[in-house]
Amino acid sequence: MLAILSAMQEENAMLRASMQDATTQTLGRRDYHVGDLFGHDVVVVFSHWGKVAAASTVTALITRFNVSEIIFTGVAGAISPDLHVGDVVIGDQLYQHDMDVRPILPRHTIPLLGVDAMAANSDRVNQLKNAATEFLTNDMNEVIDADLRNTLSLEQRRCIVGGIASGDQFISSSASVADLRQRLPGVSCVEMEGGAVAQVCTEFGIPFSVVRTISDSADEAAGVDFPVFIERVASVYSHGIVRRFMESKAHLV
Ligand code: ADE
Repeated sequence: MLAILSAMQEENAMLRASMQDATTQTLGRRDYHVGDLFGHDVVVVFSHWGKVAAASTVTALITRFNVSEIIFTGVAGAISPDLHVGDVVIGDQLYQHDMDVRPILPRHTIPLLGVDAMAANSDRVNQLKNAATEFLTNDMNEVIDADLRNTLSLEQRRCIVGGIASGDQFISSSASVADLRQRLPGVSCVEMEGGAVAQVCTEFGIPFSVVRTISDSADEAAGVDFPVFIERVASVYSHGIVRRFMESKAHLV
């Protein structure tokens, strides 16, 4: 069974509303919704924020719900100067930017795994890139109203594949962005959970993939109108991208 894990409550609520015949199990202060989503059996759950919360949710998904795969959705701050609010990043390599056990290991190395980057499932990366591109090209105008699209300049938005760095901080300064660019040059965007999902899935040998909508530029303006963006844009993106992916039946092959 596939798990759709969301980093935002609003995304989770929108996916939950599209489920049929769902039952809910509460465990460790999370609600795990098990049922049909766009014609397929899934578990839908909100991870809560930060690496520990995400790791705990993923461990339950794997050990209690026996999921065979995890797709993780959420928002992220742009680190690459080429990314804009409303673009989508599909993670190919996941990092933990706050992991630092120097001088025992080089900065960013995950002690248990001995690596600083964890690879997402490459088939899913391609399939989710296609799903996101189809959503941006064909669906977005129907599900996000023109005023909001104009206000946020969403017309020319695109999906890229890139590195994602996670840490237990909301990044909101140009100095932190510059520091991250220098320390982890392959990273496109920053968030707070993907690197933890990647670690637990890698430890258990479970394929994972990460879809992030850019919500801010991780600088001093980050956080402005964040709730509006999550509710009216990011949740709609996640729902639309997951729908395109599920309806393509790519995950069945
Ligand atoms: N998620 C969305 N924007 C973020 C930021 N600027 N820092 C960390 N996590 C984020």
